[in-house]
Amino acid sequence: MKRITSKPAVLAIIMACVASPLSAQESLPIRNCTWCHGSSAQGYTSAPRIAGQTHRYIENSLLSFKSHARDNPASKQYMWGAAANLSGETARGFAVYFSELPASPANDGDEALASEGKSIYVEGRPASNVVSCIVCHGPNAEGFEGIPRLGGMGHDYLKRRLEQWNEGYHAAAEPMPRIAKRLSANEIEALASYLSFVR
Ligand code: HEC
Ligand code: HEC
Repeated sequence: MKRITSKPAVLAIIMACVASPLSAQESLPIRNCTWCHGSSAQGYTSAPRIAGQTHRYIENSLLSFKSHARDNPASKQYMWGAAANLSGETARGFAVYFSELPASPANDGDEALASEGKSIYVEGRPASNVVSCIVCHGPNAEGFEGIPRLGGMGHDYLKRRLEQWNEGYHAAAEPMPRIAKRLSANEIEALASYLSFVR
């Protein structure tokens, strides 16, 4: 667990929040997250990859679960409880920790749709008022500060997020509700496929 011991400042923040002393190897707070998000935080079943996500976005997300602004069904079921007792400082500690872990691409989309997805990502669809994603999420879908990294995230997760904005969930996540509203089911499928392969 070299990566934990190499981050004493973050660890100190996290360790300060547990009642009993723990060795780095038995770092319970991290395991409170990784038992759902996967041991190296690459995502597992419905829990998305959080390794390598921008720290600002992770922190914002944790606070939005805590305030219930992010009200997607799986958020409610899994993350409202996980974030309920996090202080701002602890949320920041987790955010920095997970942002520094290496991220692997899920590569689980439909390869046949990747080139169409890339063209929507880069150029948008001016005829149907779909904006290009690249202007905010970056040339390599790497994200920036509060704008999340999308490259290499799981197909099913990306698809569900884009669909759920159209169903009215997480309405506070400006500007995504009005962007996602313009996307057809086929465009969502193509975007989620393309992004799953981006490194
Ligand atoms: C019981 C399972 C579970 C636990 C425990 C859990 N998570 Fe989650 N987490 C999820 C699921 C499922 C989602 C996806 C929610 C959705 O689809 O809206 C999620 C979403 C997230 C997101 C949003 C990711 C994104 O790309 O928008 C972050 C950040 C996050 N979790 C961080 C954490 C941290 C930090 C911890 C530990 C304090 C933690 N999670 C504990 C299941 C869990
Ligand atoms: C004007 C800037 C902007 C544009 C353009 C934009 N996004 Fe976003 N996107 C954001 C921001 C900011 C968030 C974080 C919202 C929040 O949770 O508060 C986000 C979040 C997301 C998420 C959630 C990721 C996660 O980890 O849960 C997905 C998926 C997404 N955007 C896809 C897209 C796609 C696909 C396009 C192009 C059709 C696009 N975005 C265009 C700014 C933008």
